[in-house]
Amino acid sequence: MWKSLFGGLVVLLAVYLALFGRKKQYNPDDVKGLRVVVTGGSSGIGEQIAYKFASMGAKLHVSARRESKLIDVTAHAKDVGAQEAHYFVASLSSYINASLLIQDAMQKLGGIDVLILNHFTSPYVGFYRHEAKDIEQLFMTNMLTHAHLASAAMETLKENKGRIAATSSAVAFFGSPYTIPYTTTKCALVGFFQSLDHELTINKTDVSVSLVHLGYIGTKSSSVIQDKIKHKPASKVECAAEMVRGIMMREREVYFPASVSWVPLFQALFPDYISNQVQQTYRDNAFS
Ligand SMILES: NC(=O)c1ccc[n+]([C@@H]2O[C@H](COP(=O)([O-])OP(=O)(O)OC[C@H]3O[C@@H](n4cnc5c(N)ncnc54)[C@H](OP(=O)(O)O)[C@@H]3O)[C@@H](O)[C@H]2O)c1
Ligand SMILES: *[C@@H]1O[C@H](CO)[C@@H](O)[C@H](O)[C@H]1NC(C)=O
Ligand SMILES: *[C@@H]1O[C@H](CO)[C@@H](O)[C@H](O)[C@H]1NC(C)=O
Repeated sequence: MWKSLFGGLVVLLAVYLALFGRKKQYNPDDVKGLRVVVTGGSSGIGEQIAYKFASMGAKLHVSARRESKLIDVTAHAKDVGAQEAHYFVASLSSYINASLLIQDAMQKLGGIDVLILNHFTSPYVGFYRHEAKDIEQLFMTNMLTHAHLASAAMETLKENKGRIAATSSAVAFFGSPYTIPYTTTKCALVGFFQSLDHELTINKTDVSVSLVHLGYIGTKSSSVIQDKIKHKPASKVECAAEMVRGIMMREREVYFPASVSWVPLFQALFPDYISNQVQQTYRDNAFS
């Protein structure tokens, strides 16, 4: 009975998708000259977002801790078409560095049109150690600096009808084993930016907030779980392209891969099924 109901639902969704699922596209000319700030821009998804914006003639500001990587990223961004490409070396483990980052971007770009909050760190993948301190220590880098960066840039974003994006994960929808501190910070990130979006709308500002919900994407940081996970990762290049599309279209929620967009509905309808799927994500005995 459940199986046929499930099958019927899948068919309905497929029909719905075929009819209404086409995504709205932006005009690449609108990107030319946009001043784009990307945190966590030295590798992975952030690096690809930088290149995507660069290829359409944006002015970039990327940041992270590793200067040598940032030098490479800005050089490549210029090669593929960035009008300007600047970098700032900072560990986003303090409010001070977050403030300095915005100051630096303002000085070099003269204003900010797009603020992409993408940096994160994860201390370990494995069973929770029952140490709340592990969670506390992640909050500054994975959530509080995002909130601080958005506030520090708010004035220029309001002046420029700007865009804010924050990178979250599908784990924030259903929780996840083996990444409890990380998952906790992502849930907080979602709560903050969805709520901020409400206040910005109520205040009739022209600043949009895009929450990006990602599934498993192939990057250096996710490679540590590659041999422990049953699924194949999605492409970081395609991920960045979809993020840029959603941000340019000022979409509130952006999903990649597309299947992530069905998770909230499926979870509401079939919570046990989703729980089971989550627990089946990792190979048996991956952490024992
Ligand atoms: N890959 C996935 O499967 C996946 C799934 C869901 C969500 N996401 C999200 O996607 C975003 C990008 O992740 P990714 O997969 O592209 O990982 P990544 O390649 O490891 O990128 C992380 C970026 O953050 C920077 N960073 C790390 N610690 C930092 C710190 N203390 N201060 C400042 N910058 C720091 C890193 O540069 P430095 O080391 O040079 O500082 C790097 O540029 C993250 O928000 C992540 O949660 C990824
Ligand atoms: C700011 O970032 C720099 C460069 O990564 C780092 O050396 C320093 O410790 C950070 N400062 C604080 C207060 O977090
Ligand atoms: C909304 O407006 C109020 C009153 O002017 C102000 O205090 C608040 O900071 C604004 N919020 C945002 C998110 O801009």
